[in-house]
Amino acid sequence: MKNLVVFASGNGSNFEAIAKACINNKIDAKVLLLVCDKKDAYAIKRAELLGIESFVVSPRDFPSKDDYEKAIVDKLSSYNIDLICLAGYMRIIGNELLSRYEGIIINTHPSLLPSFRGKDAIEQAMDFGVKVYGITIHYVDSSLDGGKIIAQKSFEYRGDDIEYLKKRLLKIEHKLYIDTINEIL
Ligand code: GAR
Repeated sequence: MKNLVVFASGNGSNFEAIAKACINNKIDAKVLLLVCDKKDAYAIKRAELLGIESFVVSPRDFPSKDDYEKAIVDKLSSYNIDLICLAGYMRIIGNELLSRYEGIIINTHPSLLPSFRGKDAIEQAMDFGVKVYGITIHYVDSSLDGGKIIAQKSFEYRGDDIEYLKKRLLKIEHKLYIDTINEIL
């Protein structure tokens, strides 16, 4: 069985979908840890309910990004990790994490990359009036949402309002992320 660590900053629905897929043997792996950079993130509550340990660490408590990431690397070094899954982790991964884990960090992004990188990708796409939305799972490197693409899934815009569109997207995203993790493992 493989070992996963998931990073999240907010709601954590992707984290929960991955964790439940592991618990239900849909992924032959275990989520060892949730790493979260926001003390009030709902993802932490989800981890608690699933009995998964959280490591909550705020960049504000460190003098630099390197120091913040060193604290995460210190924590992670006690685990034997096969894959790190970013799931709504709203920070660019820096040198400390990349130098240790590049090649085994993947991310999900709510657009068909390379379109609409960065924050509020769905809003960006909606402002453009795009008719085909999508999700991209990619390897993480030092660029913003620019690492090599592993999987993409598109779906048509049906005139939904943005809240409904986000719900549709999350549902498709959860499945794509689980399928992609399985393929990588
Ligand atoms: C997901 O849609 C994910 O793709 C996106 O944040 C959402 C988090 O949802 N990530 C990014 O925009 C990263 N650039 P969740 O917290 O419910 O999993």
